[in-house]
Amino acid sequence: MAFISDDLYNDICMANDIVDYASSFMSLKKSGKSYMACCPFHNEKTPSFHIDRDKQLFHCFGCGASGNFVQLVMRLEGLDYRDAIKFLAERAGITIPENGVRESTGLTRKKDAIYEMNKIAARFFYDTLMDPEKGRVGRKYFSERKLGRKTIIKFGLGYAPDSYDALIKHLKSKGYNERQIVEAGLAVSRRNNTVDKFRNRVMFPIINVRGKVIGFGGRVPGSNTAADGFKLAKYLNSPETPVFDKGSNLFALNLAKNSNAQDLILCEGYMDVITVHQAGIDNAVATLGTAITDQQAKLMLRYGREILICYDMDEAGTKAALRAIEIIAAAGGRSRVIRIKGAKDPDEFITKYGAAGFKKAAELAVPSTQFRLSLIKGKYDLNDTDGKIRFVDEAAQVLATLDNPVEVDAYIKKTASETGISEQAVFGKYTELRGKRRRYSPVKTKEDYKRREVTRINSEKPPGERVTDSVIEAERRLLSIMAQSKRLCLKANAVMKPEEYSNKVYSTLAKRMGEYAERGEQPEPSVILNEFSGDHDAENMAAAVFFNTEVYSDTDKTLFDLIYTIKQNKLDARINASEDPGEIAELINEKNTLGEKRSEWGREDK
Ligand code: UTP
Ligand code: MN
Repeated sequence: MAFISDDLYNDICMANDIVDYASSFMSLKKSGKSYMACCPFHNEKTPSFHIDRDKQLFHCFGCGASGNFVQLVMRLEGLDYRDAIKFLAERAGITIPENGVRESTGLTRKKDAIYEMNKIAARFFYDTLMDPEKGRVGRKYFSERKLGRKTIIKFGLGYAPDSYDALIKHLKSKGYNERQIVEAGLAVSRRNNTVDKFRNRVMFPIINVRGKVIGFGGRVPGSNTAADGFKLAKYLNSPETPVFDKGSNLFALNLAKNSNAQDLILCEGYMDVITVHQAGIDNAVATLGTAITDQQAKLMLRYGREILICYDMDEAGTKAALRAIEIIAAAGGRSRVIRIKGAKDPDEFITKYGAAGFKKAAELAVPSTQFRLSLIKGKYDLNDTDGKIRFVDEAAQVLATLDNPVEVDAYIKKTASETGISEQAVFGKYTELRGKRRRYSPVKTKEDYKRREVTRINSEKPPGERVTDSVIEAERRLLSIMAQSKRLCLKANAVMKPEEYSNKVYSTLAKRMGEYAERGEQPEPSVILNEFSGDHDAENMAAAVFFNTEVYSDTDKTLFDLIYTIKQNKLDARINASEDPGEIAELINEKNTLGEKRSEWGREDK
């Protein structure tokens, strides 16, 4: 994984400081040696997210999210490993020298190839659009949608010709093969052949905050229903690839992040965003054909103080807006809703009322709670007693989801005055529901996360090798002790080989720590953890090892006790799974001699 030297990597981490970086996302409190906050990766009210400044690691004792500084940046910014390192280097004003670049691993090479193919494809679509002959259809469509040349260039829009292999041929001429082109999501394999994924579509490149093309959206240039009634998908998006994660990127964030505006505007579609930008409002983004995710909410809140939701005003758009409000709130952010009256979407609104009209509507964006309450209000007749009661009942349900007591108070007053029902009664309804909400909300416990870990590890194993959570726990503690002492690390590796661990992550850790110990060095957790970058489950498991706070009175004895327990458990599992009497007898014998071996381990090194 490493593409820079360990020294440079350490310099970059130290120059930034994980605590300093993280404090822009969460409010950290110092507690003993570590810093604590509410975890950004799961919902909680009491802090269990820890940062160890010395080791430059993070760990959540609630959900198990864990890793080094770069891995934290990857998760919070939605970047891949390389880009996260570059991000940190830039942040600290460090340049990564050419000779700091080492041979990259398979995955990094694969990703680089996809970025490169995407870039070539974007250029190809753009050139095709601009070609007097080949691009006619695309240009005509964009001009019907009132997009100017400047806008087309700014967004790098293009046109995919009506051909089964134009792009494939072009990429092949640049040295790529069909397998790679399919992997990049630019072609699809059918039964007997491979064809261009995007054919006769106007193209919207999706560019991440680092300026890399990660995927595309393509729209039918015109109606998506043919004369014979056949319906094509209006928009076609790139599939998920090693560089394209729809849930953690946003269309036009590369542009919106440079806006001077304080807030971000969230639209539903590519065309909406583009029209809004063309109208001179440069802080609009959109999700990538899917509903907004938690990661996207966090990413937006990194760049915008508040999110102005600007969805279609139809039923589906309203539903999506309500969902977005919820997700943004859960991510710790505030949102408002832009009401685009008299048009079906922002694009049409701007065509009708111009840039000034849109700016006005954005200024009038209503706070999300007010939006939710006014939707409910619209359903009932407040001149009618029964209508009032039902309105208050439903409004109280909304208020019960709020965390800010001042906001709750303000809206209780408002609801009371609108209906003429006493504040006391509204408050009573609110507290009743508030209590219920607490009881019913499904809280994931530490045990839930642990169970998932065991299930994952076992899913790749034949029955005889499946492990219990107590074995994994014992291995984790064993590795924690090894991390604290070179001597114990060598001792442990002598009796329990790295490949004997229940999973690859632990095997790798034992091996790496052993290498440090053999050189007479203390292991560097943050450097070792880089090996797992990109695989969250592996990052979590590996980093948790270095977060053990247990203190042992007799570490040597504990070390061998743990190894003994692990080996014994593993033999038990094999005995239980075996159906061969001969083998079972052998295993039982092995288990009996384990005790004798145990006493030898202790003596060996005197
Ligand atoms: P809309 O249908 O609201 O698109 O879908 P739009 O932007 O108003 O489209 P125009 O104005 O007709 O060109 C909103 C978003 O949903 C995704 C796209 O990301 C689109 O921008 N979508 C829509 C798809 O992924 N596939 C579809 O078939 C339709
Ligand atoms: Mn539209």
